[in-house]
Amino acid sequence: MIRVGVFGAGGRMGATVCRAVTDAPDMELVAAVDPGAAGTAPGDVQLSAGADQLEAAGAEVAVDFTVLDAARENLRWCAEHGVHAVVGTTGFREAELAEVGELFERSRANAIIAPNFAVGAVLMMRFAEIAAPFFETAEIIELHHDRKADAPSGTAARTAQRMAAASKDWAEDPTTTVIAEGARGGAIEGIPIHSVRMRGMVAHQEVLLGTEGQTLAIRHDSYDRASFMPGVLLAVKQVFSRPGLTVGLDSLLGL
Ligand SMILES: NC(=O)c1ccc[n+]([C@@H]2O[C@H](COP(=O)([O-])OP(=O)(O)OC[C@H]3O[C@@H](n4cnc5c(N)ncnc54)[C@H](O)[C@@H]3O)[C@@H](O)[C@H]2O)c1
Repeated sequence: MIRVGVFGAGGRMGATVCRAVTDAPDMELVAAVDPGAAGTAPGDVQLSAGADQLEAAGAEVAVDFTVLDAARENLRWCAEHGVHAVVGTTGFREAELAEVGELFERSRANAIIAPNFAVGAVLMMRFAEIAAPFFETAEIIELHHDRKADAPSGTAARTAQRMAAASKDWAEDPTTTVIAEGARGGAIEGIPIHSVRMRGMVAHQEVLLGTEGQTLAIRHDSYDRASFMPGVLLAVKQVFSRPGLTVGLDSLLGL
């Protein structure tokens, strides 16, 4: 049995992870941390305010779905205390990931950070990367529920970075007059990203690519937070055997 603790256990994703861990035959939920919530998590685990509960309960892996500042701190705590970390919290910048990598190089624990744990979304990113060299224009539209704090989404940012790494040959933006500020979105590595926040949605993304006479749309929709759970549980199992920091699920899925 893998002993798992969850940071952000009272949140939307954290609570779903607590249930998934409790239902997994080879895992045990031993600690649930969330300063913003009181009560109990599934499996009758008491929600606590601080990371100390993870240590006291002998957690081997900590899953983090919180907010960026908290996730930074929790990662540091995990590295210092030798607890493997599986992090879904989004918003980490590239330079910061390098620092986290160094932190876990020096630790006996490992870390996996994935901006998206849905297997379909991981495939979408891969397909977009493969398609990039065959098109001159590309834009990303990401759509999320109306309580998401960060924009653009971690998945959109990562998709843009990977497409930009796969191709340098992008057409100039033809826009010379902007009537409404932000109408062309915000660009990451030259690829415009448009963030939609919409009540009723969960997590969705469409990558549009265009060249002479044709376009390609690659779309992924997460309709339910359950879509992230197989990826999270896979990471919890594999984090033991992946030294240092692993970013994204690709290598775990053999992509
Ligand atoms: N990687 C993925 O596949 C994926 C999927 C969905 C959401 N996310 C990301 O997960 C994060 C959480 O999303 P959510 O919708 O569950 O948010 P949420 O607001 O519902 O939950 C966040 C929880 O974290 C708690 N928290 C804050 N500081 C904490 C700390 N120091 N220790 C423990 N808990 C703390 C809050 O009290 C809250 O309950 C966001 O960054 C979101 O973008 C990632």
